[in-house]
Amino acid sequence: MEVIDRTITIVGCGPGSVDYVTGAAENAVDRAEVLVGAQRLLDLFQNSSAERVVVGGGISEVLEEIENRLSATSVTILVTGDPGLFSLAKLVIERFGRDRCRIIPGISSVQAAFAQIGLDWADAKIVSTHKQDPEPHPSLRSAEKIAILAGRKPSLKWIADHVLADFADDRRIFVMENLTLDDETIREVRHDELSTLNVGPNTVVVIVKRSLIE
Ligand SMILES: C[S@@+](CC[C@H](N)C(=O)[O-])C[C@H]1O[C@@H](n2cnc3c(N)ncnc32)[C@H](O)[C@@H]1O
Repeated sequence: MEVIDRTITIVGCGPGSVDYVTGAAENAVDRAEVLVGAQRLLDLFQNSSAERVVVGGGISEVLEEIENRLSATSVTILVTGDPGLFSLAKLVIERFGRDRCRIIPGISSVQAAFAQIGLDWADAKIVSTHKQDPEPHPSLRSAEKIAILAGRKPSLKWIADHVLADFADDRRIFVMENLTLDDETIREVRHDELSTLNVGPNTVVVIVKRSLIE
């Protein structure tokens, strides 16, 4: 049997609280030689003795950093939420190849958001405005449940203009910040308030047809 040498482990770390880090994630980090991730994710693993590489926002620098390290060691990459949902994981897999990557799933911010309102999300439309505003898509207008990764101030105006424009009265809008963290905030807002809000980088907006959660 061919033994695959998976030199990269991508660990989903959940929305931010240590309570939402899985046992599988902890085990993977325990075995890590080099941990690469944002400071807030590295801080979740205080007991790890692995070398720590803090990365900021620049994707190409992160990929370069991983490439440099891989010549000498295996690398464990920490990502927010689940690696399968609008994650750096996709770019790492594209760059280094599926066979080299082992994925540890995590709890997504979208799961945490729907849990807050006690609603299933199997049929939810999930959109990211995290890096930039996406092209508006007609399917958003018919969706009864939408989760939008919205950690940029312009995201809220995009949602107000393109997602809610025609049928806001028939929808409930929840702005959820810092899910699972000590400063978690859940606000239900009106359509006309949305673009006036200031939100931080950890924000999910959930829009639900009113009749589903009345
Ligand atoms: C690059 S995406 C990563 C999504 C991640 N893979 C997931 O499954 O949640 C970053 C976005 O995740 C959302 N996010 C991450 N952590 C969050 C938290 N604790 N509370 C609310 N939103 C969060 C924000 O919408 C942010 O813009």
